[in-house]
Amino acid sequence: MNVATTLSEFRALRTQLAGPVGFVPTMGYLHEGHLSLARLARSSCESVVASIFVNPTQFAPSEDLSSYPRNIDCDLELLTQEGVDLVLVPLNNDKVYPAGYDTWVDVAGITQRLEGTSRPTHFRGVATIVAKLFNIVRPQRAFFGQKDAQQAIVIQRMIRDLNFDVELVLGPTVREPDGLAMSSRNAYLSKEERSAATALHRCLKSVEGLYTEGERRAENLRQAMLEVLQAEPLARPDYLSVATLDTLEELEMIDGKALVSLAVRIGSTRLIDNIILPPGESLF
Ligand code: PAJ
Repeated sequence: MNVATTLSEFRALRTQLAGPVGFVPTMGYLHEGHLSLARLARSSCESVVASIFVNPTQFAPSEDLSSYPRNIDCDLELLTQEGVDLVLVPLNNDKVYPAGYDTWVDVAGITQRLEGTSRPTHFRGVATIVAKLFNIVRPQRAFFGQKDAQQAIVIQRMIRDLNFDVELVLGPTVREPDGLAMSSRNAYLSKEERSAATALHRCLKSVEGLYTEGERRAENLRQAMLEVLQAEPLARPDYLSVATLDTLEELEMIDGKALVSLAVRIGSTRLIDNIILPPGESLF
């Protein structure tokens, strides 16, 4: 596996890769969720590129940029084991965002709902870095996780609207045995918080159960999630949503596919999770 720490080094190594090239962008501190995407890329592409970059522009000043967990040596070892060909690890923020950097990719509308309500500039940072990475890596396929469903929807919209010649491939959410979706941020949780964090998955299971019994009123599904969380003293809901997949607007009645998603603070850690209804349906 080759590791490039500068863009010029990356460009030279990229020319040696046979296509189709699959790309897995990450912020590192890799877990089975990330690795499942690398595996999916490996199984369907001739070459696999990953990136590890904790992108400062998608963090608000109040967020966890400086404390975001990092372990580059371990990450590179894991990516080697998955048979990744080339990893981009930009070591110098200033080379990615040079002084005077002033160009942004702003997907309107859907970026202001759900995560965008409490993180209004988050997806501008995500879309901008992913657009930059697409231009640097020039992949034929890019792999994203359903865990961050809104992010995948935003990137899919950007690909369409800006004519990127990239196919977005979505991987399923990988969970711990007790249902907690894997996330680098799970590392912040104390023992008590880790146990409380299973409430997110319990919310989604409760919604899935009600939906399977025939419940289609979105408000009753949101209420069911609220009740699960109210029984968990360490959990504070940020949003509990049952929304359409295209505009991410809240639904009254479910009559097609829906994205059920939630953001919950467990202590000071903010966790997200989601499912698609009907069960077994995919986002795209
Ligand atoms: P990061 O949080 O490191 O996630 C990288 C990729 O792994 C994303 O596509 C995310 O959806 C996926 N992922 C995370 N946890 C997962 C899980 N439990 N199961 C399946 N996939 C999972 O998302 C980002 O980084 C950044 O916003 C990025 C796209 C790299 C831009 O900076």
